[in-house]
Amino acid sequence: MATPILGCARSRVAVGPGLSEAEAHRPVMLRGTFWLLLLLLPLHPPGTQGHRGATSPGQEAEEQAPWPSIQLLQEQLMTVESLSRRYWTSFSCTVWPDHCEDQEVPTPPLGWSLPVWGQRALESFTEWFCSFQDCCADGGDCRIYNNFTGLESDLRVRLHGQHLASKLVLRAVRGYLETPQVDKALALSFHGWSGTGKNFVARMLAENLYRDGIRSDCVKMFISTFHFPHAKHVDMYKEELRWQVQETRRRCHQSMFIFDEVEKLHPELLELLGPHLEPRVPKAQGMEPPRTIFLFLSNLGGSIISEEVLSLLKAGWSREEITMQHLETPLQAEIMKSTDSGFGSSRLVKENLIDIFVPFLPLEYCHVRLCVQDAFLSQDLPYTEEALDEIAKMMTYVPEGERRFSSQGCKSISQRINLFLP
Ligand SMILES: *[C@@H]1O[C@H](CO)[C@@H](O)[C@H](O)[C@H]1NC(C)=O
Repeated sequence: MATPILGCARSRVAVGPGLSEAEAHRPVMLRGTFWLLLLLLPLHPPGTQGHRGATSPGQEAEEQAPWPSIQLLQEQLMTVESLSRRYWTSFSCTVWPDHCEDQEVPTPPLGWSLPVWGQRALESFTEWFCSFQDCCADGGDCRIYNNFTGLESDLRVRLHGQHLASKLVLRAVRGYLETPQVDKALALSFHGWSGTGKNFVARMLAENLYRDGIRSDCVKMFISTFHFPHAKHVDMYKEELRWQVQETRRRCHQSMFIFDEVEKLHPELLELLGPHLEPRVPKAQGMEPPRTIFLFLSNLGGSIISEEVLSLLKAGWSREEITMQHLETPLQAEIMKSTDSGFGSSRLVKENLIDIFVPFLPLEYCHVRLCVQDAFLSQDLPYTEEALDEIAKMMTYVPEGERRFSSQGCKSISQRINLFLP
């Protein structure tokens, strides 16, 4: 039995479900403590509080009316219940921002808003809570990881045969997210045959940039044939897509949108994305504009990439010597002249709103074999060198005669290994 050499299973993935379960119980546990805390807070009579933020805490205290009558006290007790719910919501939103949109913030009774002292108590409580709890550091958003070390290692270890794509993606994404001020979204368009790793890289990005990976609030993935299958419903799809993009950008200061099978996306939906990719005039100084990454995945240009790569290999180049200079021009030309898809003629391509066209090279036998090995390792299954060869040989290789590239890349390898299990 071969010993695993590539650590494919990553701990964070395993931690995922357990973490959310623990999180689910935390609010219940803490609610009691929270009520206790609330009882210790001084009550603030309605009608006497200033506009929050308009007066300093000191002024506020001076202006505070004498302790109110019994009737007022009664009113206050009635409002405590709903007010405490607001505190709770506010608190849990600070600590678990991704839970916020599930919770309706109860409207406070007339004349009440979250008073300054309450706000401060909340802040100290949050601070205390975060002192032993893994909270969002420095007021940062804990949904966002931006682990470039992890991304770099994933691209190097788990992605096979894509020296161009891995370099381009890492450099572009890292550069974009580390730039202090950005005035536009980052738009990358992945091109290549199916099974070459376009989807895999998109997921890697989601996993390394966001705590919850592809399921993050800040990541939205759309598959044309799945989310927008019928052209006759395009108006409804437009509404939905517009809302999804706006909402996600509003809720997350760093969001990512993945469009799979973009060659099949309705032209009107492509147009709708145009404004989101255009450069914007930066807003007020110090206001961090939201960052947005768009990934467009398609097999457009896959064949031209393969042709170019094949002719370079035949001319004696090694695969790793192939650079963007060899592929960029033919790839862009091919995308623009493709007539069976709206993508090449869309505003996104015509007006240069796509930052980088990323070519995914067709995979060769040795890469497929590595994918087979990964599939065994990720399922913790024993394998032999013979099994790796046998499964890799099951794939179809093209072109006829030369049989150089796997026509399905590394697609559905994990299903194939089942045939070889004892
Ligand atoms: C980043 O990813 C690497 C590799 O997956 C992991 O070892 C490391 O703990 C991660 N760092 C953070 C801060 O999550």
